[in-house]
Amino acid sequence: MLAEVLKQLNCRDGSIVVDCTLGGAGHAKAVADLIAPGGLLIGIDVDETAIEAARENARFSQQTKLIKDNFKNLDKILHNLGIHAIDGILFDFGLSSTQLDAPERGFSYRFEAPLDMRMDISQKLTAADVVNTYSEAELASVIKRYGEERWASRIAHFIVEAREREPIKTTTQLVDIIKDAIPASARRRGGHPARRTFQALRIEVNKELEGLDRAIRDAVKWLKPGGRIVSISYHSLEDRIVKDTFKELARGCICPPSIPICQCGRKSSIKILTRRPIRPSPEEIEANPRADSARLRAAEKI
Ligand SMILES: C[S@@+](CC[C@H](N)C(=O)[O-])C[C@H]1O[C@@H](n2cnc3c(N)ncnc32)[C@H](O)[C@@H]1O
Repeated sequence: MLAEVLKQLNCRDGSIVVDCTLGGAGHAKAVADLIAPGGLLIGIDVDETAIEAARENARFSQQTKLIKDNFKNLDKILHNLGIHAIDGILFDFGLSSTQLDAPERGFSYRFEAPLDMRMDISQKLTAADVVNTYSEAELASVIKRYGEERWASRIAHFIVEAREREPIKTTTQLVDIIKDAIPASARRRGGHPARRTFQALRIEVNKELEGLDRAIRDAVKWLKPGGRIVSISYHSLEDRIVKDTFKELARGCICPPSIPICQCGRKSSIKILTRRPIRPSPEEIEANPRADSARLRAAEKI
């Protein structure tokens, strides 16, 4: 959704723009071209390998600061850089193709790999820890909440039974357990049977949804009036958090209509630019089927 991202960010020569999810730097490079020669691009990623790859391979046309950190630390990052305000900020949540396609990272149910799933390889908790140490109730809750998997309780039960025989160490071991847990008739519907459980584990390992609303509020706080925030989500849980946080920030006075003069003093801090989320075009989905679930939302600081 590159063209739409650039349109919504509305940046120009001299803009200071933060890409909170640098990944393969596709968006970042295009933004850098637009803000050259006077702008500054700040690229953040929690995955050291994304930062390294961008440092080595991305030929940015523009002054760039690349930082390995979690975007939840935006305040600290921008303070350390001596930045006072920004013109644009982008969140393109989830995993990059590089992460998904690297078998050793353990994100994909298509490859035999250790159950890892950490975006930040310096963190301790892995998917193997979750699968082998969480209680059955905790596992069921994670799989249900983050995977929206109707067979969550059965999958959790099968996981606990299997790990009593031997620890679950690999993606293929887990895929086999999930397949056994889901009845054959249900397995034929809704894509790969392990898709939802893998999504849930990945969200849990990387604490993807925790503090997302606060990260969006922090981002808006740093925007100059007229500055833009753009987000791309890939599942409904993430999209709901963005939608609700935008709504909350866009809401002004909350006094009851019976009070003629505002008492609450609340002011809207953003104007929502996308009443409905923007979806990728059919051509884009055909070229990149992973884009199918993408939902773009944008807002402008008042
Ligand atoms: C979908 S990819 C971004 C792709 C990128 N926009 C591009 O054009 O190539 C998401 C990236 O965000 C990173 N990421 C996810 N959550 C993060 C967080 N909380 N803080 C920093 N980076 C994060 C992931 O490691 C991944 O590299």
